[in-house]
Amino acid sequence: MNDKHKNLIKLAHQSIEEARKSVEDNHWSMNFHMAPPSYWMNDPNGFCYFNGEYHLFYQHHPFSPEWGPMYWGHAKSKDLSSWEHLPIALAPSENYDKDGCFSGSAIEKDGKLYLMYTGNVWTGNNHDTDLLQVQCLAVSQDGIHFEKISENPVIEQAPEGDIHPFHFRDPKVWKHEEVYYCVLGSRTKDHVGQVLLYRSLDLIKWDFINVAAKGEGNFGYMWECPDIFPLDDYDVLMMSPQGMKEEEYLYHNLHQSGYVLGKLDYEKGILEHGEFQLLDYGFDVYAPQTAIDEEGRRIMIAWMAMWESEMPEQSHKWAGAMTIPRVLTIEEGQIVSRPVPELKTLRQQGDSIGNKLILGEHRLQGFEGDSYELELVIDAKGANEFGIKLRVDEDQTEETVFTYNRSEGMFTFDRNKSGKGPKGVRRAPVNLVENKLHLHFFVDRSSIEVFINDGAKTMTGRIYPEKKSLGIMLFSDQEVEVTHLNKWNLNKSI
Ligand code: FRU
Repeated sequence: MNDKHKNLIKLAHQSIEEARKSVEDNHWSMNFHMAPPSYWMNDPNGFCYFNGEYHLFYQHHPFSPEWGPMYWGHAKSKDLSSWEHLPIALAPSENYDKDGCFSGSAIEKDGKLYLMYTGNVWTGNNHDTDLLQVQCLAVSQDGIHFEKISENPVIEQAPEGDIHPFHFRDPKVWKHEEVYYCVLGSRTKDHVGQVLLYRSLDLIKWDFINVAAKGEGNFGYMWECPDIFPLDDYDVLMMSPQGMKEEEYLYHNLHQSGYVLGKLDYEKGILEHGEFQLLDYGFDVYAPQTAIDEEGRRIMIAWMAMWESEMPEQSHKWAGAMTIPRVLTIEEGQIVSRPVPELKTLRQQGDSIGNKLILGEHRLQGFEGDSYELELVIDAKGANEFGIKLRVDEDQTEETVFTYNRSEGMFTFDRNKSGKGPKGVRRAPVNLVENKLHLHFFVDRSSIEVFINDGAKTMTGRIYPEKKSLGIMLFSDQEVEVTHLNKWNLNKSI
């Protein structure tokens, strides 16, 4: 590793250490979610399974809780439940990446782990127009210490055609029939989101094949962080479009994360695909990335935050976290995401109730907490509107409310009374199954993820309640029956 790279990493580690205590003392710091040891985190990068362990890298600014010149933070896990922080993998040390090692991915070749990422250089003060982005590689024998290769950058310029010359980033690399492919996030010259497909035999020399997919209509001005992978009978393109406009209950976040299902023609480099669908209907899922493991499971993890959203944890010297890892499958033409079953190893003391009738509002005595898993099935009987409130304090000044409304066919996540930080309501279309609603919550100290009807829909959001807001309440406009409810406190995992 060259001296400049080594020194930057050393300074970064000192800085992270100095801020660690402030993060540990903060009641919003994560218990079982992957989060930075301190300071800033955004996109997951290089998520992969290498030598029997899961590796997760991430966009990291180790000198402040704000975004800045990007480093790649690094953690690994044997079971996707407990994570171990590792030394920083990449620092912006070279002329071609001096203003940031932007997002990218990882692939194993000849027993070594390669990271492919975007080198970012600002050429002026306007970050929208004055930038130069190139694609680069770094390699490691042990999966921990990385060297940038001498051939960098391996993709120096955006291809000719209706392709914006500068916004050209976030390589996701994979192997298909002995050939390497990668997709890059891009936009046309007049700002329509698209993805570019490349091919290589050795990861070093890359040939542009085609624009694999391009937005039409309300589909944003730039697609960030694309990922293409086979799942069941489809090729899935997952991407994060910037700038889609609100439509009814859809696209209320600043940027979106979603997917299209299709079939990739590897020769022509074109993905024929269907409609765009959201991956999560909540507030805070961005830049998801997937990895395939030894069992052939396709696992997704995403940044659990949103650009330009208020992040109250910044005053405690950290910002950002990852979602829990989710296993993806396709059912009835849609992606279904479920929590990885390994998370069960974090379960501590459990409590349950069965067959409880609810009418009006009811506080569940003894069911409190700020870090737990909660699974319940509600038989709606004749009710129209019912739901659950989490992180409720004594006088209900604070509460995070999840409501099902049968006549609207909508499930809502309301964080208007969740405490500090960003507010708002998000809605997801949900049908009852045999007149029942199945909810599976993962509540951490400043986040809630809910899997609705066994992963048919998910909603994710950051919340910043007071330490004392720990209660759980059920409510309904007519009598409903909670047929079962299980809660487990979850252990600290990092
Ligand atoms: C997405 C993104 C990427 C970029 C990275 C920079 O959140 O904007 O397109 O590579 O973040 O940190």
